[in-house]
Amino acid sequence: MAKPLIAGNWKMHGSAASATALASHLAQHWNASATPQMVVFPPFVHLADVKRALSGSDIALGAQNLSQYANGAYTGEVSAQMLRDLGCDYVLVGHSERRAVFAESNETVAEKFVAAQGCGLMPILCVGETLQQRQQQKTLQVVAQQIAAVVERAGQENVCRAVIAYEPVWAIGKGETASPEQAQQVHRAIRAQLGDAGKTTTLLYGGSVKAENAADLFIQPDIDGGLVGGASLEAQEFLNIAQQLIEQD
Ligand code: PGA
Repeated sequence: MAKPLIAGNWKMHGSAASATALASHLAQHWNASATPQMVVFPPFVHLADVKRALSGSDIALGAQNLSQYANGAYTGEVSAQMLRDLGCDYVLVGHSERRAVFAESNETVAEKFVAAQGCGLMPILCVGETLQQRQQQKTLQVVAQQIAAVVERAGQENVCRAVIAYEPVWAIGKGETASPEQAQQVHRAIRAQLGDAGKTTTLLYGGSVKAENAADLFIQPDIDGGLVGGASLEAQEFLNIAQQLIEQD
């Protein structure tokens, strides 16, 4: 069985004060004995404040991005070890906004994945197709290629040890959600691509997950949790989504 996980991607939102308040609220209300692991991904500059606000809770900390390099003359970049030093256990790798807006290639994503695991960070590898690719019936092919690029560099077993998030680009931040059947179809294909070792790989769905649609997604056999953007900025809504995952368990 894959371990259930509920992840909140705060993107480039909030202030030091709002990030701390959100983390404190989650820390107070998230039941430490609950099975799914909860992890939040604040902006880099709020990581230290959020870490403090989460202390004493079981909620893990993650970063939204990392450099593929260990150190050196890379102005503006943040290394995996720097994130470890700040108390991060997780990192998003290859989010579609990084791929589309910051031109990250499959190869760069693979390098970042290796850098993360090399420092003991758990990567959440994000994959997903654009609307055009879906309309051209290329969804499974695109997702398989995105995963294969990382397998080629990191090895199948290392990819199976990570978390993979299927996030259709056309659903992210748009209020559009893949139907539970559409999501399950892609998750099933990812699981098949990973082979035997992939039976315990945690596979998340992301793309406009809300409390009202979470249960139908989480009940799918190959969906082990969610990567939540907009709805994770509201503490109670995020807790309600996490509750749906507990109930599916
Ligand atoms: P969304 O974002 O929930 O706002 O669609 C998901 C994500 O980008 O990870």
